[in-house]
Amino acid sequence: MQATIEKAVSFIHREWGTFSPMTTLICGSGWGEVTQAFSSMQTLPYSDIPGMSKPTVSGHAGKLLLVEQNDQKILIFQGRRHFYEGAGWGPIQFPVLLAYALGTKVLFLTNAAGGISSDFQVGDLMVLEDHLNFMPGNPLIGPILHPDIPRFPDQSEVYDRTLQDQILKIGSFHHIKIHQGCYLALSGPGFETPAEIKAFANLGADAVGMSTVPEAMIANALGMRVVGLSCISNLAAGKGIHPLSHQDVENTSIQALPKMKKIILEFTSKKHHNNS
Ligand code: HPA
Repeated sequence: MQATIEKAVSFIHREWGTFSPMTTLICGSGWGEVTQAFSSMQTLPYSDIPGMSKPTVSGHAGKLLLVEQNDQKILIFQGRRHFYEGAGWGPIQFPVLLAYALGTKVLFLTNAAGGISSDFQVGDLMVLEDHLNFMPGNPLIGPILHPDIPRFPDQSEVYDRTLQDQILKIGSFHHIKIHQGCYLALSGPGFETPAEIKAFANLGADAVGMSTVPEAMIANALGMRVVGLSCISNLAAGKGIHPLSHQDVENTSIQALPKMKKIILEFTSKKHHNNS
């Protein structure tokens, strides 16, 4: 994979010139439109980039964007790949390794999630404090993906505490309620059963989804600072009143978009150097 990453880096530098994005954002379900918050951007379709392929899920555009905020370049993956798409870990590993190869220090992962905690309402935001990996396997199994990844990575603080606090501060400044909680990841594509949700609540999960954890594990292993932010698109199975659908994700994110944009814009305009 490393050879393809190098090809992708050369291609991107040829198209956009040499740059180093301090922060990279991966837009999960419902988050693609936050890119409207940025005034000007350069765009490349994933299908033009060596080693990248189009997402297969509705709402995931499949574009790489480069924007500038406060004299900093920010790289944005508008659309992510999921394990349930059936193409293995490769398409999930690739954007993280590419962001790292381009010089990213902070990886910002977003997603839509089902709310398990009884404090959560549809449309709320949750910054990830930790996770439970219930995906079938682990994206770090196998030959070591990158020389900077140890065989046995520490995972005692996958999500950077200082950056969690920054997100909470931005939220309170703008009177946007942001919870802090534990995200449980499953492969999907089926939503959970009510019995599973009850069990996950007992295990300490506050929200459930089908992404984010693999990317967070790889980025943490590479030594990047990771931030995770969920939009609670629905109450998890058995907690709400109607059957779950991907449409909930799309409808909720349209309503929550203004606050999602505010948080992203403000976070990316800060300089996240030296653990500050
Ligand atoms: N379960 C799993 N993934 C999800 C959900 C959910 O309820 N909502 C959005 N993504």
